[in-house]
Amino acid sequence: MSSQEIPEENLPVEQGAAHAAVEVAEDPFADPGLPVHKPRIQDIDERAARRSERTVAFMFTLSMLATIAFIASFVTFPVDKIVYIWPFGNVSALNFSLGMTLGVALFAIGAGAVHWARTLMSDQEITDERHPIAAEPEVRAKVMADFAAGAEESGFGRRKLIRNTMFGALAMVPLAGVVLLRDLGPLPEKKLRSTLWAKGKQLINMNTNEPLRPEDVVVGSLTFAKPEGLEEDAHDFQVQIAKAALMIVRIQPDDIKDQRELEWSHEGIVAYSKICTHVGCPIGLYEQQTHHVLCPCHQSTFDLADGARVIFGPAGHPLPQLRIGVNAEGNLEALGDFDEPVGPAFWERG
Ligand code: FES
Repeated sequence: MSSQEIPEENLPVEQGAAHAAVEVAEDPFADPGLPVHKPRIQDIDERAARRSERTVAFMFTLSMLATIAFIASFVTFPVDKIVYIWPFGNVSALNFSLGMTLGVALFAIGAGAVHWARTLMSDQEITDERHPIAAEPEVRAKVMADFAAGAEESGFGRRKLIRNTMFGALAMVPLAGVVLLRDLGPLPEKKLRSTLWAKGKQLINMNTNEPLRPEDVVVGSLTFAKPEGLEEDAHDFQVQIAKAALMIVRIQPDDIKDQRELEWSHEGIVAYSKICTHVGCPIGLYEQQTHHVLCPCHQSTFDLADGARVIFGPAGHPLPQLRIGVNAEGNLEALGDFDEPVGPAFWERG
């Protein structure tokens, strides 16, 4: 038997009193309802509302000015300029100004929006009963009407100063990101369309650093070559070798199937770009029986006995061939630059 079933006169004095109290208490979970709405100063004083409007507009305008300052900083301060700023000490003028101006631009948009919502948009609390997720057409119509009413109460259409400055601030902030794209570096322009190879440039063995002679290249060997004059300690060595690196192989002239390849070779010695035409990996795996070279990155395979055509893999076109000959000293030399851009197909089509 629970205590609720025990006759009250049988309960101890204190418990009986508490039991009686429970019976008369109000429902502790009753909905207290919404507190009484208190209008804000802006709701009853048009001058206060105007002050808030000007504050919001000021924040959005500040954001626009900060964005302009961001762009100005980007083009004004050199990368290596250091300035003393208390309490940070010595800092990069460029980094500091970019961070500060972008921070102000974003903060001002946020602060303006919050101030707008807290002082000018309606703060009347309302309750709505839960309804099924799939709303009836009339409910949807009511939602749209409520949305329109909300838009009206926010003053979005009426307070044109806020609306216009907000649009201005939101439109300008992305400019900061656009300007930063400039840091990706200068455009390549025509630099990827030509290499250091030119008529008369000797082929230098990359292992010995000596000019290559035809007798150095035997059938079945693979030799890598660079243009004469390109030294490894040159400041742009990596940039130049990434375009000019050559693979040299010797093939029995009778085994060469492509007529142009034969004409551009010297006694069966052929020179091809070492840069894969898929996405530019250096090729280095040579199969001497078949004269196939394999790119280690995605397994594109080229037939060096047939114009370096692609016989397998994702590469879109053959490796460019360099026309070669022999100079008066008996060294291998280029007879010009490649007649097409080396590397990925994009540059050939661009
Ligand atoms: S880079 Fe050579 S196959 Fe992809």
